[in-house]
Amino acid sequence: MCGIVGYIGENDSKEILLKGLERLEYRGYDSAGIAVRNGSGVKVFKEKGRIADLRGVVDEEVMGSTGIGHTRWATHGKPTRANAHPHQNTSDRFTLVHNGVIENYHHIQRDYLAGVEMESDTDTEIIVQLIGKFVEEGQSTQDAFSKALTLLKGSYAIALLDAEEEQTIFVAKNKSPLLVGLGEDFNVIASDAMAMLQLTDQFVELMDKEIVIVRKDSVDILTLDGQSVSRMPFTAEIDMSDIEKGTYPHYMLKEIDEQPAVVRKIVQAYQNEHDKLTIQPEILEAMQAADRIHIIAAGTSYHAGLIGKEYIEKLAGIPVEVHVSSEFGYNMPLLSEKPLFIFISQSGETADSRQVLVKIKEMGHASLTITNVAGSTLSRESDHTLLLFAGPEIAVASTKAYTAQLAVLSILAAVTAEARGIDIGFDLVQELGIVANAIQAQVDSKEEMEQIATEFLSTTRNCFFIGRVMDYFVGLEGSLKLKEISYIQAEGFAGGELKHGTIALIEEGTPVIALATQEAVNLNIRGNVKEVAARGAHTCIISMEGLQEEGDSLVLPKVNELLSPLVSVIPMQLISYYAALHRDCDVDKPRNLAKSVTVE
Ligand code: F6R
Repeated sequence: MCGIVGYIGENDSKEILLKGLERLEYRGYDSAGIAVRNGSGVKVFKEKGRIADLRGVVDEEVMGSTGIGHTRWATHGKPTRANAHPHQNTSDRFTLVHNGVIENYHHIQRDYLAGVEMESDTDTEIIVQLIGKFVEEGQSTQDAFSKALTLLKGSYAIALLDAEEEQTIFVAKNKSPLLVGLGEDFNVIASDAMAMLQLTDQFVELMDKEIVIVRKDSVDILTLDGQSVSRMPFTAEIDMSDIEKGTYPHYMLKEIDEQPAVVRKIVQAYQNEHDKLTIQPEILEAMQAADRIHIIAAGTSYHAGLIGKEYIEKLAGIPVEVHVSSEFGYNMPLLSEKPLFIFISQSGETADSRQVLVKIKEMGHASLTITNVAGSTLSRESDHTLLLFAGPEIAVASTKAYTAQLAVLSILAAVTAEARGIDIGFDLVQELGIVANAIQAQVDSKEEMEQIATEFLSTTRNCFFIGRVMDYFVGLEGSLKLKEISYIQAEGFAGGELKHGTIALIEEGTPVIALATQEAVNLNIRGNVKEVAARGAHTCIISMEGLQEEGDSLVLPKVNELLSPLVSVIPMQLISYYAALHRDCDVDKPRNLAKSVTVE
């Protein structure tokens, strides 16, 4: 949520900041702004809307080789120009951008800033006003910055300009991500390395409650009480082509198409020199030591967790519970003696999941994070990490991360089963190869998917996805995909559950998309389809070779039934994509959303 960039060097910073913000738009796109520092002070440009709207108000004539920028996902205060960052204190000496939430901003306002007129409704403005006040009282900027930080409760990544210190950006973070990128005669800051990859691949990770003084030829990291910290940079291993759209109209379509390659890459990444699937021994030990596993995740990753439970229980024989992270931390079930917590998170930054990690760590429990982002907060803070190797996922709607999560979970389950002496009865490497081919066949059948979207979803205001067993979980993901990018009200239901109430919503023409890939319940789900069809529903059945019947709208290639979600989710993604396209929706940046949800 919210993205931050900064540049200090010898070139004009405007275009660098704007380009960086464009790469961070996935973190929020309600409003945006930049501030540039030059000989005549700090000039702020901000606008409601996208970076493209911001470009329209930036004065090309204003130059400045030091600057900061922000793209916003509104938490406190509506998405307006006044609430857009950067914010300035009353004298305009200090200019600040912030990502996160200041929980005690009302108290700070009451206790320290009585009488100060605020220009925005944000929690952020109190930080810059507070720094201004401390400086007015005689403190240096650095001391005022440190003192202000000690008073803040909540999460923040902050960059601050002082109009009287031309060559410095003051930076700090707590719980929100922020990196400093290193260059020759310049340095940059960014919420995500992606934003500055065209300038450098050398980044320094910042830790919570550190202050960093960034100048064009130095980066000084200090603790809040002024102790110097030294830290080696790391190389961001992201290929520029991974973050470009290329010839694709949308990142989402590109990422859907990447899925066969992602599955193959994961198999390779988890194979040893004898082509055998392996997992780090300490993770296997943690899996084997667990008397119960709790999967904690949100959104699409939660849906992957539901399938992960099937894999771990069915293959490795360990009981698993799956929890929505925003609920779990505040309503914990009775825990067994030796639970293992598995966090599934594409970004590795989801605040709802992190609050659970913090709590279970305090309770002394073991944790494993499955994430796409090495070095992310959840990865750093949990005991173990398994990476997804899906490459950067930029479209807000998650696609390739979901299939990657399923592939990694299947490998984790199979390798754990082997370690426990259980024969899973099939060769997972071979089966995942078949899955990759089946996914390829789906992404190559876009016309068929577009036809289904046209036939079933072009005019509807609602839609139901039904399935049983694992198809039910894939239906949940299908409904999330459709609603988030096309704004069609969509619900996923267990096929047998509809008749217990929800069937009342079925009217003449209501689209019901049914998945039928599970042999044991094939007849049952087809019975449920008949029940809704008898009440006027417009039904679409997506089945799998061997289970198909005449009249099915789409028949998926045969794959191992346990792995069918990796294939059956592809039509869900593509149908949603085309439904959104037909409605002229902004596929990659749906309204009200952001990719990395770093607030609770
Ligand atoms: C939906 C989507 C979200 C995320 C959720 C968790 O397409 O992307 O539902 O899955 O916000 O995010 P991560 O996986 O980064 O923890």
